[in-house]
This record gives sequence, structure tokens and C-alpha cells, in this order.
Amino acid sequence: MSNYIPIDSSSLKANTKIGCNLHLLVNTGADSRYILYCKGDTVFENTKRELLVEKNINRLFIAKDDQQKYYKYLESNFQNIMSDTKISADEKTRIVHSAATNLVKDLFEDPRSGNVERTKTFAYNMVDYVLKDSYAAQKLLRIAVHEYYTYTHSVNVAAVGILFAKDIGMKDNDMKGLCSGVLLHDVGKTKISTDILNKKGKLTAEEFKEIKRHPELGVAILDETGTEIKEERIITIQHHENDDGSGYPYGLKKDEISLFGKIARIIDVYDALTTKRSYADAIRPFAALVEMKENMFYCFDKELLKEFIRFLGPYDPRKNPRVNDKSGM
Ligand SMILES: [Fe+2]
Repeated sequence: MSNYIPIDSSSLKANTKIGCNLHLLVNTGADSRYILYCKGDTVFENTKRELLVEKNINRLFIAKDDQQKYYKYLESNFQNIMSDTKISADEKTRIVHSAATNLVKDLFEDPRSGNVERTKTFAYNMVDYVLKDSYAAQKLLRIAVHEYYTYTHSVNVAAVGILFAKDIGMKDNDMKGLCSGVLLHDVGKTKISTDILNKKGKLTAEEFKEIKRHPELGVAILDETGTEIKEERIITIQHHENDDGSGYPYGLKKDEISLFGKIARIIDVYDALTTKRSYADAIRPFAALVEMKENMFYCFDKELLKEFIRFLGPYDPRKNPRVNDKSGM
């Protein structure tokens, strides 16, 4: 098995240090081998990038063990990469996706303050990107709606969340808090046994009680960071509160729940329904909206749910069957 993985060469900005060795895959008749193209501790010069473009080489290879370094590079050069006119909108969207997915994976493996901070920074940059480039944003949303079957779903849902917030006129700064909060909202689950989280079949009353602790456990993790995370706290604590007061942990109802909490509730249920979980199969986005409207109406702010359905309507895969629909895979 190869110890190298491909990366898109256009994700590399000229005149930056990538931090890991870049290799070319060279076919030499009978076999192929990897040769060093640029050392990680040297600058990836523009001439090197131009040469790849000239030779029409789209893929470079990095050692599997260097994956984290590459994602770190993407994260810390996020704004540069996003404003680089030589990188296509498609590629930018892929970068946002892969970097965010890697970040969420890190966060859930180790929710230390460093990873919470990284998530916050990334979320803020992601919102800037969505606001600056409406074409790329639309692309992100289409992928998010169509690729609901993948494990990148929490990232997709954050994308759906911020674009929905933009659609209903939320202020830029609030959108940043929303995005960050949606990425962080379930971080409390890292303190709950995976035996309970992944249990197949019905939970006992005791187990459900344990799961219901995750909003408060999440806020405790966020508080440990000592940084200002107002919206993230609200979203983490309120994302299971229902409009009729039947939610948890506090049983808040209607306007006792903030707009952030209301949006998060909608987004979170949409996520739960469209992602394959241990206890149920995933359903398609349109069916999820029908389920939310017909059987779970009590959970949501009515007007906001109507807005959400209107917002996602144009992205219904049945109406856009040609758009990157791999949902049958
Ligand atoms: Fe949750």
C-alpha cells in the first residue's frame, strides 16, 4: 500500500512554505515512483508552481504521515488561498471542505482549548469566504445538500447554517459566531461514553439522561478555553431546546430561546435526519424537510422553519438532478 496521498497542486500558494515535502509521481515504463519536488522547509516558489501549470500536473503527493502538516498549512494560509485568483472556486470549495473536516475530526478526538480556538478561527475565515465569494458559496451549499451521505456532514451543516443565516439577513459578525457554534455545538459528547453514543437500538432512560448532559458538558469545555465565545456558548447550551418547551436541558420555549439556538435546533435535526447514524438510516434532504414539518413541528420556531424550507427548496436534488448528485452511492 502506498505511503503517499495525492493533494491538489492548485491548493498550494506560490511563495509560501508548505511545511511538508511535496512529491511528483513519475512513471518510468514498468514501474512508478515518487520523487521529491519541493522540500517542506523551503519556499514553494512561483517558478515551481508555474512549471506544474505548464506541464498540466494537477496532483502532487505527500507522505501519509504529513497529512496534519498539510492541513495546518491550509488552515494558516486560508485567507491567502481563498483570495488567490489562480485557484478555482471548485478547488477553494474542496479546500474549505477538507480542512474543516480535518479540523472537526481533531476537535472531537481532543477537545483541548487549542482545537476550540482553531475551530473558532477557521469558522470566522469560512464566513469571510462565504461573504466575499457568492459563486463559491453557492457551490459549497450545493455540495453540502447533495453530499449528505458523507462523514463530512457536520461541516456541510455548518455551511448550510451560515448560508441560511445570510439568506435571512443575519449580520456578518453574528454569522461568524453561528458558524463557530455549529461546528462546536456537540463537543460535550466527547465526555460521554461511546458505548452510549454508538448504541444500536433504544436507549434506556438512564442512558438518555446521560446523553442529555452533553450541552452542559460542552459549555464547560468551552469555558475552560477562557476565550470570548458568546454565541458558541448559546448554541451549545440551547441546540436541544424545543419551541414548545419539551427540549433540554432547561425546557426553554419560544422566545426564551435565542435566534442562534433556534437556527441550531433546525440545523441539528436536519443533520440528524440526513446523516446515517447508529440507530437509524439516513434519509434524503427533501424527505428530512417533510419529516421536520409534519412530525417535528413542535421542535421549531414555525416562521424560521418555513424560511428554512423556502431557502433549501431550490437545492432539492429532485429539482437539480444534474448537480453532483452522488447520493445513491
Ligand atoms: Fe447535540
